[in-house]
Amino acid sequence: MATGALALPTMSLNSKRKAGEHGLRQGDSTTARLFLAFACFWPLMIMALFAASSPRVKTSIPGNASVPASNNLRMEIRNALDRVDIMGYGPTHPRVAVVVVGRDRQNLIASVESVFSKTDMDRIFVVTVVVDGMAEDLTLVQDLQKIDGGTIPHWHGQTPDLHNAGATQPKEEEAHGRKVHVIFNARQRGVTASRADGVEFIRLLSEKHEQAALKSPQEDLLLLLMEGGTQLESRRWLLPVTQALIVPPPLLGKEDSTVAMKLANAVSFNLEGPGKRTSFDETLAAVISESSAEDMNQNNGDSYPTPALNGAAIALRLDTYLNLPIHDESLQEAWPANLDLAMNLWLCADGIDMLEDAKVTSIDASPPAASLLPQQAARFAAAWMDETLAKKFFNAYTKTANPDMTYLEWETFQSAARQEPGFTAMTSRCRDFKWFIDRVNPELGNVLQASEELPKGKPMAANSETSAKSADAVEGNANTAERANEKTPVVPGKTPLHGERNDKERQEVDGSEEEFVIPERHDQKKPTKPLCKECLEIVQRARPVEIAYVDMSNGHREDPHRGARDTDGNFGYTHDETALRKNPPAINFMGDDLARACSKRDNNYRMLHEKVKIDFKAHAEAEKSLQKRDKIFCGIYSIESAHPRIQRIAETWGQKCDGFIVASNKTDATLNTVDIPHEGPEDYSNMWQKIRSMLSYIYDNYYEKYDWFHMGGDDLYILVENLRLYLESEEIKTAANGGIYLPDGTETTQVPLFLGRRFAYMGDMNDIFNSGGSGYTMNKAALKTLVVDGFPNLFSHAHTFSEDTMVARTFRHYNIFPYETKDENGGERYMPFMPGHHYGYRFPTDKSTDWYAKYSINIKEGLDHCAAHSVAFHYVKDEAMYRLHALLYGLCPAEPALES
Ligand SMILES: *[C@@H]1O[C@H](CO)[C@@H](O)[C@H](O)[C@H]1NC(C)=O
Ligand SMILES: *[C@@H]1O[C@H](CO)[C@@H](O)[C@H](O)[C@H]1NC(C)=O
Repeated sequence: MATGALALPTMSLNSKRKAGEHGLRQGDSTTARLFLAFACFWPLMIMALFAASSPRVKTSIPGNASVPASNNLRMEIRNALDRVDIMGYGPTHPRVAVVVVGRDRQNLIASVESVFSKTDMDRIFVVTVVVDGMAEDLTLVQDLQKIDGGTIPHWHGQTPDLHNAGATQPKEEEAHGRKVHVIFNARQRGVTASRADGVEFIRLLSEKHEQAALKSPQEDLLLLLMEGGTQLESRRWLLPVTQALIVPPPLLGKEDSTVAMKLANAVSFNLEGPGKRTSFDETLAAVISESSAEDMNQNNGDSYPTPALNGAAIALRLDTYLNLPIHDESLQEAWPANLDLAMNLWLCADGIDMLEDAKVTSIDASPPAASLLPQQAARFAAAWMDETLAKKFFNAYTKTANPDMTYLEWETFQSAARQEPGFTAMTSRCRDFKWFIDRVNPELGNVLQASEELPKGKPMAANSETSAKSADAVEGNANTAERANEKTPVVPGKTPLHGERNDKERQEVDGSEEEFVIPERHDQKKPTKPLCKECLEIVQRARPVEIAYVDMSNGHREDPHRGARDTDGNFGYTHDETALRKNPPAINFMGDDLARACSKRDNNYRMLHEKVKIDFKAHAEAEKSLQKRDKIFCGIYSIESAHPRIQRIAETWGQKCDGFIVASNKTDATLNTVDIPHEGPEDYSNMWQKIRSMLSYIYDNYYEKYDWFHMGGDDLYILVENLRLYLESEEIKTAANGGIYLPDGTETTQVPLFLGRRFAYMGDMNDIFNSGGSGYTMNKAALKTLVVDGFPNLFSHAHTFSEDTMVARTFRHYNIFPYETKDENGGERYMPFMPGHHYGYRFPTDKSTDWYAKYSINIKEGLDHCAAHSVAFHYVKDEAMYRLHALLYGLCPAEPALES
């Protein structure tokens, strides 16, 4: 007690906390515990004093037609307001607002009856019944309102009121104002959301009361959350519960009797039996356990902490509830919802107590299943634990609950959870989970402590057999366990900030934190920088594909696998795609032409001079390194009349591709053009069939030798060094490997990647495709999906010019979406126009008038538009092909070589 008295002055006395402040500035839970000890000795007398002196008033407030009608709850308030007894009790004896959630009518009725028969009627603010998953039922409303009208024995202060007992209808003159309000959720919303609905109604109602001066802002409301079927056991519940949540003023030695000490804890009503409490284990399943002797001694058994909530009945101040940082409405079932609420209360508020006098019974004999799905467990860890602890938890969780689960699956669940709209990582906002297992749930702490003794290098439980084996190995190898247990320094920046923990505590926690290395399968490494959120989302929607070649040619009898014709028109021709690379022609652009092209100071010059460069340095380093470079196959579509363009491509960037062919209607080995016939006419309006045959030819002949396939038209300019470096980047490698880990080179599957310039068709973000202009780059998995799965099954005989949207639609069928290819500064890598166009382009005021503005997705203007290491430009014709090349590669006469 003495310690408690000393602690008093340090506690905050403000009676009204600002919303949001709560989670970070909450009083220390230990101090809260000591307060509770005081609270329980508070004389019972007070209650009678307040209750007896309170008159019963019936009032209605003037209507206001302009009350916002956006929310159904708001519309119902006016009605409810007229019906509720108005009564102010002041700061120490607030009224209680009850939320009963359930769907069984008998259970709901039993709970509401118990509230009215076991609670001072004058202190009931409102009883909100949320019927979850039931359409409006008038008979249920009537049954509930009979209770409401005073038809069962009830109390006003200490006075029993039996005036209407047994009557089917309340006598008019003695009827009480209605306190029951029923909300029907026709579509089931689950426990968390239903509670939130009930609370929101109460909050709005209370606001209205305050506006109408019918409730003092000094008066708190106590919230009692009940599960349908729960019944209050004794009339002695409200006093101790009030005192556990609000410490009355005289104890603080304050003159001002309106200042009460408000705690942000909750009371969990006892359902389990004396001294018992609800806890949970490393699988996050509910466990009923004995309270420790120490906890029981602290307050002589009058109150003791509980790590979790049984969910039957929970009392807390309305403000406490409203200030909890999260109410994850996706939590449907009772146990996950209660676990989440318990974490909120312990880590972001003052914790949960059980009281000797707050007991309930439940009609439901068997409690609902109290465990979590693996997704929910992963989400729980992502929300509440820092990375180090989450990994320990993963080990303990999988060992007991789910030995077949791999860390990759776990992380996939975690990242999916993190991307949900309502998700908040609590580790930076509240106390951390380490505090919880040290102070509140040491049993769980011991299990997690044991799980970190697993040696590093334990293979992830790829199957139960392996994990069983490695578990044996652990037991047999004390040295390994000892070594793993050695303390290592904490990685700076890994420890979340805790606004309210004092320095000593912080030291304690940090000092005991040990580095934990996740045992890896093979050599799973993460990229230096994780994928962007959208990037990961795109990658994780697609399924990995076996990249082994599957023969689709079927004897090359039909389109699109008929193959190519040689110069004599005979089928069966296969071009040597490395011919250009092996015999690169010199650039035929010199003298006056070159000088003139170089001297122009237009926007093309500016963009290439000021921003876009070939990354010569990284290219040289990559060439020097012993690492195998990625092989790029460049496929161009063209027709005979455009072959002069092909010559210029060959002299400039084409020769930098590892493989190069031009799909044309005339085979010319010197130009690397190949006559690839296709269904329908040789016409721009039939591009889709042309691309089908071209990609099938490439797949049939060159698939196995190349890592990447870039397709585009004959007015395309590719910055091949930049493209290759991009494709070899950690980001793209990680993306092709599922989005989390870098590949180790042994993979036999790949996530299909479809890279290019993303456009939203007509501005529709659900219809994103890669613009054909700059061409698009596919990895093996993507090309194979297109040729093996897509072409035979989708749009096989469609004739259309817009091959790019058709390719995107085909990919979309397999959940393959254009990958986000902007660089880290938001610069685009693939360009639909010439450099100068992007340099000068500005959005029109009315974006709907400009297709490019409409189709574009978050692009920047001017210099910022292009990534410094862009990979492709479009509409590069005639001399421009030479000119861009000369500017990029420093071929201009009087100019010093351009270095990146
Ligand atoms: C009705 O409510 C609105 C918004 O709260 C307020 O501006 C207005 O003055 C009120 N009107 C009356 C008649 O009370
Ligand atoms: C290729 O197609 C174009 C356009 O249809 C046509 O003009 C040309 O004659 C064709 N060339 C050959 C060799 O068929």
